[in-house]
Amino acid sequence: MRPYVHVNVAMSADGKLSTRERRQVKISGSSDFARVDRLRAESDAVMVGIGTVLADDPSLTVKSQALRDERVMRGADENPVRVVVDSSARTPPSASVLHKGPGRRVIAVSNRADPGKLRELEPFAVIVKGGEDRVDLAAFLRSLHGMGVNRLMVEGGGTLIWGLLAAGLVDEITSFVGNMVIGGENAPTLAEGEGFVREDSFVGLMLEDATRIDEGILLRWKVRR
Ligand SMILES: NC(=O)c1ccc[n+]([C@@H]2O[C@H](COP(=O)([O-])OP(=O)(O)OC[C@H]3O[C@@H](n4cnc5c(N)ncnc54)[C@H](OP(=O)(O)O)[C@@H]3O)[C@@H](O)[C@H]2O)c1
Repeated sequence: MRPYVHVNVAMSADGKLSTRERRQVKISGSSDFARVDRLRAESDAVMVGIGTVLADDPSLTVKSQALRDERVMRGADENPVRVVVDSSARTPPSASVLHKGPGRRVIAVSNRADPGKLRELEPFAVIVKGGEDRVDLAAFLRSLHGMGVNRLMVEGGGTLIWGLLAAGLVDEITSFVGNMVIGGENAPTLAEGEGFVREDSFVGLMLEDATRIDEGILLRWKVRR
């Protein structure tokens, strides 16, 4: 058993998640920001890859006090469990995700993670080990489910999303497409990694909804099984 996995990203009109320098940029507006905050509040856990932690230093907290109150009213922590996928334990012990706002943290590492670095992170997060070179995402999602995570939101970046898609671990994708072109062949997109070659291996999607929001469009896709 694994959680329901919902990937959410904001991309430019040309499909980029950020600039070629992997610098965070504002792609959506306040309505989409509020939608993302609600999605976070409705999730049991929010996950990012170590690339996103190092590039953006996100806190992944629920920003709205009303939404945090709603969570507490139903007996949950103020914030969902914050999860970092980080094979070699490169998460800085000072990272915002480990310190901002109350709630549990989990870091997934591979068997090659340096024990010294793990000791530095242990005061702030539960460490889950698995996978030889890279985190074994399927096994890790099973562990998260065992910790009570039924709904998992994935906030990026493209490398982690690729890993999840390639392993058949994504159920739903929402992507906000914003009104700008970022360009750059090395700027990250929704799915990085090596990419599929054969058409019969592509991840098929069903378009559930397309809504104008802020100055762009929100696409809601379900993954075909
Ligand atoms: N616009 C948006 O919505 C949005 C959202 C998030 C991020 N971003 C942008 O995306 C960029 C960061 O994305 P990124 O692609 O560089 O990094 P990422 O996807 O956040 O993290 C990728 C890293 O996760 C680790 N990992 C461990 N096990 C893995 C597995 N099985 N499969 C895949 N990855 C695994 C790998 O590092 P190790 O091998 O060291 O573990 C990998 O390099 C930044 O520019 C950020 O601003 C944009």
